[in-house]
Amino acid sequence: MLTNDQLAQWDRDNFFHPSTHLAQHARGETPTRVIKTASGVYIEDRDGNQLLDAFAGLYCVNAGYGRSEISDAIAAQAKELAYYHSYVGHGTEASITLSKMILDRAPANMSKVYFGLGGSDANETNVKLIWYYNNILGRPAKKKIISRWRGYHGSGLVTGSLTGLELFHKKFDLPLPQVIHTEAPYYYRRDDLDMSEAQFTAHCVAALEEMIACEGADTIAAFIGEPVLGTGGIVPPPVGYWPAIKAVLEKHDILLILDEVVTGFGRLGSMFGADHYGVEADIITIAKGLTSAYAPLSGSIISDKVWRVLEQGTDENGPIGHGWTYSAHPIGAAAGVANLKLLDDLNLITNAGEIGGYLKQSLVQALGDHPNVGDIRGEGLLCAVEFVEDRADRKFFDPARKIGPTISATMFAQDRVIARAMPQGDILGFAPPFCITRDEVDKVVAATVAGLKTVLGG
Ligand SMILES: Cc1ncc(COP(=O)(O)O)c(C=O)c1O
Repeated sequence: MLTNDQLAQWDRDNFFHPSTHLAQHARGETPTRVIKTASGVYIEDRDGNQLLDAFAGLYCVNAGYGRSEISDAIAAQAKELAYYHSYVGHGTEASITLSKMILDRAPANMSKVYFGLGGSDANETNVKLIWYYNNILGRPAKKKIISRWRGYHGSGLVTGSLTGLELFHKKFDLPLPQVIHTEAPYYYRRDDLDMSEAQFTAHCVAALEEMIACEGADTIAAFIGEPVLGTGGIVPPPVGYWPAIKAVLEKHDILLILDEVVTGFGRLGSMFGADHYGVEADIITIAKGLTSAYAPLSGSIISDKVWRVLEQGTDENGPIGHGWTYSAHPIGAAAGVANLKLLDDLNLITNAGEIGGYLKQSLVQALGDHPNVGDIRGEGLLCAVEFVEDRADRKFFDPARKIGPTISATMFAQDRVIARAMPQGDILGFAPPFCITRDEVDKVVAATVAGLKTVLGG
């Protein structure tokens, strides 16, 4: 068997890791972590360390690790038919069944699902389809997409542009000119501390109205947003946000893409964020929770309104010129079918809502009075703690001090608990598998308290 040192050397010599400080990693200044196996909420590395994964990988292993119901379905599919394409009307039992299962769970106005591989390519599909839609409707100038600062929608060319985080733009010549960004619905970081939450919602809506007036509604095709901001800081929207935004979009005939890559299939305790916040989308992006990441698969769920125009488009222009070799890959589809069934059979979405409430309440109880804890927020099993230098004045830490990453690393070193240091701000994110128990939540909270104490005292 290979030694861990050998693997670490090969890793540094050969492996280009995503979202990594390449130079530090190549110099061996950051560790190589070789993960070997996993079960429930625990992953195990090659040294035999058990790590409690309170971020479910990249908030995606929603059903929990080691589910043989899903891996057996993948193995059976691979043996029977590892691949066939889905162009020109081809399908497999798994891909057709999964599309029905998705539509059975999706909001009533949804009509069809297009399958991709990951969240980025699904959002890429969405933008193309919306441009096509407006061309078919004879509105060639209506093409811009409004996204939000701190939104995360992927890291491709268009999707990296939609993402509203500086790191994903810097030195990549992004954002592309068709993408514009509006205010993040981030109440804790509002400029005017005297604003109530409702006033802040009105402020975000006014900023959107102003942007539309300035750009011209006839140049704007769509607005994209995550029901709860994810990578940008795990921020539930302020009260009344989604219905108010939707009303503005409808007034100006602007489509709404709800990016539910993180929230879809139960993370908020509801099937979709659209249900959770009572807002109707024109397209819903899905990925991670669709297969609990047992195999790569994403989707764009298309509303009846958009679908009818796409059909008209192909009657006028021939087959839609959009497809991936691996669209609706049978192995991903088999994983999706088994995963959605498991979520139902084990009642995991209800559990996500209940245990998520317990997680947030426990964080508030344990940390709510700490002078360096500015905000504790969350919805379902998606929670965050934001650290500040001074809670009374809401003074943020100098980012160079890397307080969030240091607390996360300390929790890992002291208690073998993984919570994610979100990339912008000193924010610790929690998004464990839906099967997490109260005892496991208690361990996560205790590790957070201990990590904070080691780094900042108190
Ligand atoms: C909301 C959202 N959209 C899109 C993506 C991109 O998905 P992928 O990394 O699978 O391309 C992510 C990834 O974290 C995400 O959180």
